[in-house]
Amino acid sequence: MSKSIRKETLKTKTPEGKLGVLLPGLGAVATTFIAGVLAIRKGIGKPIGSITQMQTVRLGKRTEKRTPLIKDFVPLADLKDLVFGGWDIFKDNCYESAKKAGVLDINLLEKLKPELEKIKPMRGAFDRSYVRNLDGDFIKSGNRWKLAEQLIEDIQRFKKENKCERLVMIWCGSTEIYMKRHKIHNSIKNFEDALKKDSKFISPSMIYAYAAIKEGTPYANGAPNLSADIPALIELSKITKTPIAGKDFKTGQTLLKTIIAPGLKARMLGLSGWFSTNILGNRDGEVLDDPMSFKTKEKSKLSVLEYILQPHLYPELYDKIYHKVRINYYPPSGDNKEAWDNLDIFGWLGYPMQIKIDFLCRDSILAAPIVLDLILFLDLAKRAGLSGIQEWLSFYFKSPQTAEELYPEHDLFIQLTKLKNTLRWMMDEELITHLGREYYNT
Ligand SMILES: NC(=O)c1ccc[n+]([C@@H]2O[C@H](COP(=O)([O-])OP(=O)(O)OC[C@H]3O[C@@H](n4cnc5c(N)ncnc54)[C@H](O)[C@@H]3O)[C@@H](O)[C@H]2O)c1
Repeated sequence: MSKSIRKETLKTKTPEGKLGVLLPGLGAVATTFIAGVLAIRKGIGKPIGSITQMQTVRLGKRTEKRTPLIKDFVPLADLKDLVFGGWDIFKDNCYESAKKAGVLDINLLEKLKPELEKIKPMRGAFDRSYVRNLDGDFIKSGNRWKLAEQLIEDIQRFKKENKCERLVMIWCGSTEIYMKRHKIHNSIKNFEDALKKDSKFISPSMIYAYAAIKEGTPYANGAPNLSADIPALIELSKITKTPIAGKDFKTGQTLLKTIIAPGLKARMLGLSGWFSTNILGNRDGEVLDDPMSFKTKEKSKLSVLEYILQPHLYPELYDKIYHKVRINYYPPSGDNKEAWDNLDIFGWLGYPMQIKIDFLCRDSILAAPIVLDLILFLDLAKRAGLSGIQEWLSFYFKSPQTAEELYPEHDLFIQLTKLKNTLRWMMDEELITHLGREYYNT
């Protein structure tokens, strides 16, 4: 990234006042995140998995031994300044919803009950044709334009009532059906006309994204459906100077894929097959049991390997990979997903080998720190004067949103390098190339 790109100087800019966190979808991920932050604030939990809270960043030469925590290096909002709100299509408050999600221990939830109970959803903007396995009745009425107006009012009211200085919105709602880009997505003018005409090519998550971006509120999409990743909303994000990012939180099986695949490629080991199967029993699993919602997820999960392994550059190693991803709804598992992977790999002279992985993971436990980091980094980006797609946040997504002409970078370690270099760049610190010639006299 060139230093010539305009950015506000952040050195003197400490965030002041409250940061409102608006989450469409107060289900398993959202309530695990909110309850987690409340527990951390009380000192009864630790922010494990969060880069903003736990990771350091090296500055300057290795001999300088400067490795501050990221949160001490860049001016991030303090956890005590976060205020939570959101929408859902069910009336449950965050305590009830967290209890139903069954991710966190009931003893912990009881300790947080008074605060969680106070966080009540606003009525959702919902249409069952986009999430067929859900049917809630706590919803707004009106055509798409009216829904957008109501969401904008909600955002403004929330900000005022909670005396927030700034806001961030992260879509934690259910995965919507697979949709292709349509010409009404091509410009903000077409999009607004289509909102007024109540076009079926605009899904509920796009209406939330529109409302947020219109208000200058940074927006990220945690699910794989089409949302802010359309030219119309990218255009709007530049007009309103709003940072956006997406999509689909990188947790569980795909996280492991983006750790292992770059390693295999780095060592020039071949891959002939990768079979991934999951069982999960939460509401997300129920939604993904519908083939149209699964198709959205499948697209997001499948693209990862192709981009990492670059079969066009290494046809002998990666040209004929059989890659399959399955998700099955299995209620007894609850939120504790089991993800199996079988990898058929080959080495020297083509000799075959196998890797088997059985990851007993907790989806929302892996997603919650991502939600936290995205909120704090998107707020930072906004204060730094950055707008439009924030590719440096690719680290958190299965399908990173990039400029139209670019292919996404999926390798977790390249993504982390990019993220940290962006923070150094924001703070006018030297970028780290890992060349290291300066340590040797030869
Ligand atoms: N948990 C993970 O590891 C993970 C990883 C990647 C992506 N995701 C995605 O994150 C999203 C949330 O996951 P979850 O496990 O919390 O699911 P969940 O089903 O527990 O929660 C989603 C919530 O969204 C609500 N909702 C649906 N449509 C809405 C709308 N239009 N307006 C307001 N609320 C709406 C539902 O009622 C539900 O309460 C899903 O799309 C999931 O695919 C989760």
